[in-house]
Amino acid sequence: MKKILITGGAGFIGSHVVRQFVNAYPSYQIINIDKLTYAGNLENLKDVENAPNYSFVKGDIGDSEFINDLFSKYCFDGVIHLAAESHVDRSISNPMSFVETNVKGTVTLLNAFKAHCNIKTAIFYHVSTDEVYGELSHEGKFTEQTPYSPNSPYSASKAASDHFVRAYHHTYGIAIKLSNCSNNYGSHHFPEKLIPLMINNIINGKPLPVYGQGANVRDWLFVEDHAKAIDLIYHKGRNGQTYNIGGNNEWKNLDLVKLLCQQMDDKIGNPKDTSIKTIAYVTDRAGHDFRYAIDSSKLMNELGWKPSVTFEQGLSKTIDWYLANKAWLANVTSGAYQSYYEAMYR
Ligand code: NAD
Ligand code: TYD
Repeated sequence: MKKILITGGAGFIGSHVVRQFVNAYPSYQIINIDKLTYAGNLENLKDVENAPNYSFVKGDIGDSEFINDLFSKYCFDGVIHLAAESHVDRSISNPMSFVETNVKGTVTLLNAFKAHCNIKTAIFYHVSTDEVYGELSHEGKFTEQTPYSPNSPYSASKAASDHFVRAYHHTYGIAIKLSNCSNNYGSHHFPEKLIPLMINNIINGKPLPVYGQGANVRDWLFVEDHAKAIDLIYHKGRNGQTYNIGGNNEWKNLDLVKLLCQQMDDKIGNPKDTSIKTIAYVTDRAGHDFRYAIDSSKLMNELGWKPSVTFEQGLSKTIDWYLANKAWLANVTSGAYQSYYEAMYR
């Protein structure tokens, strides 16, 4: 039985990756380790928590004693590493926690992998972001050859962790895979990021804070399509390679928020334009990257991946999930979220 470690499996994307692997590979033993920070939530895994091929261990990837014990106990055949501090705004106010988890945590995992896993056969897969490439102006897309040029403390920490993963491949010969993905959306997304924050605010009749003029552009991918791409790359991707993953689905922030307002008003039964009227332009993010866009042709041509839903379909499914899971939203927005929101948007 193959033993696969998934880190950060209680977070947004991690929970979808856990679900994908637990359900698709009953013959694998999936071990999820997660520190359960504000972004990690075992409620995200209710549907798989009793699966015979799944187990959860609470812990910090930066704690080398804990990580070494875990690796010596399990002797993993593969690691799919997602645990991270993931929010750009938080990286601006507290960069050090991004160094601790994203850089030190990744190197701690790499050292344990090198020490305890069969480096001839085991795979270390790092799940990363397109933000490592920096920003684009109106034209062009990021390819796997685009030079790294991270602009935020978050993207700088992810770029550093990507470099460490590649350096361990080059120096020690460990088998690695990397993917750099655009902005994800879908169920179980913590409401600090654009789409779930807007959904939560519309549900609660709060203003919709758009940074600057809302002119920045992001490429959005449905999270379940990301999880399927990770499955494909883990199993079929080439050793030492990077694959870019994107939705070919660029939206100016303001246009996206307006679409979300229309879909929400329709579903809730609000009079036309109720939510659009609550858009509030707020101070722009420091160093705000203008545009991200991904060229996924390597992944599509080599491994035959393509997104399974249109943006309208994915967004509709996402809104339906939040409307059906208001208790989840209420739970994750109680307590510390309130002080975060106050400090961030006052
Ligand atoms: P998230 O913030 O929702 O979840 C992160 C998870 O990591 C949480 O469960 C948290 O508890 C856990 N974690 C944090 N610090 C930890 C530590 N020290 N030890 C163990 N666990 C820890 O993040 P996400 O949006 O699901 O992103 C997952 C990964 O995908 C990240 O590596 C991120 O950089 C990458 N990524 C995210 C996006 C996106 O749009 N969200 C896009 C591309 C890549
Ligand atoms: P976000 O979801 O934080 O992802 P990232 O910064 O990693 O791309 O933000 C997506 C875009 O939405 C980004 O251009 C910033 C903008 N934004 C707002 O306008 N208002 C908000 O309240 C948030 C959280 C983001």
